[in-house]
Amino acid sequence: MVNTSVALSGLVLDNPVIAASGVFGYGREFAELYDINILGSFSIKGTTLLPRFGNPTPRIAETYAGMINSVGLQNPGADKVLEEELPNIAKIFRKPVIANVGGFSAEQYALCAEKLAAAPNVGLIELNISCPNVHGGGMAFGTDPAAAAEVTRAVKAAVSKPVYVKLSPNVTDIAEMAAAVEEAGADGISLINTLLGMRIDLRTRRPVLAAGMGGVSGPAVFPVALRMVYQVYEAVSVPVIGMGGVSSAEDVIEMMLAGATAVEIGAANLTDPFCCRDIVNALPAAMKKYGIENLSDIIGGAHG
Ligand code: FUM
Repeated sequence: MVNTSVALSGLVLDNPVIAASGVFGYGREFAELYDINILGSFSIKGTTLLPRFGNPTPRIAETYAGMINSVGLQNPGADKVLEEELPNIAKIFRKPVIANVGGFSAEQYALCAEKLAAAPNVGLIELNISCPNVHGGGMAFGTDPAAAAEVTRAVKAAVSKPVYVKLSPNVTDIAEMAAAVEEAGADGISLINTLLGMRIDLRTRRPVLAAGMGGVSGPAVFPVALRMVYQVYEAVSVPVIGMGGVSSAEDVIEMMLAGATAVEIGAANLTDPFCCRDIVNALPAAMKKYGIENLSDIIGGAHG
């Protein structure tokens, strides 16, 4: 029998498959379709200290082999997530979840992370310094190594649970960003968030998204994500969670060979709500096919 378990900073997952933030809500809708306890974990929608209504609509545009979103970190705020959403999650998901935290200043990030980390079912914090859809926050921190380090330090000082920093691909040197947050105390790195993109409506001659631009995700970005995971694995010694266009068990294995310890699945959940379940179920056969007994043995296996 093959062994699919992996460990993220002491947090042992039955398998490396994690539903990504923003596509899985708080798990409720998916729990009506299948037993979500089959997942390694899931990352909740990016939470900010205060509630956010999000961006004007349209917020979604289709594109070849993917999609573009500009949701704008819509969420009910840290207090409501702590008091209602996380306890509700505990009723349907027996394992620790990942709390994705957004913000507009280092202080806000730290306060929000501190609140969410208090929930018993939060296993680790995913510090989202890479949302491309808000002004003055998100990606503004994730494209400047000094700002990224400052936020990381502030959050690390506020929480004792592991802090993984979610990086933006919209930078020239992803390895420099990863090294900066590791130096600032990050327990791990997750990447990639979405790539900044846009579509234009030929009839109106205006951008399709009300916000003009948004984040591109889906299978089109997989090779970019894989390349960045590969580069970050070489630049840091902390664990890496890989994501970006993953949609099959083979993609999970490829991400792990590049250096990922665990793998998040995002946009694929929107086209096939069963995809995470199907990937978990397909992993043992894919492992056998490629001669893998212990999945964790292949982490970084593509490096010379
Ligand atoms: O617009 C959004 O809520 C997206 C968030 C993210 O990509 O991190």
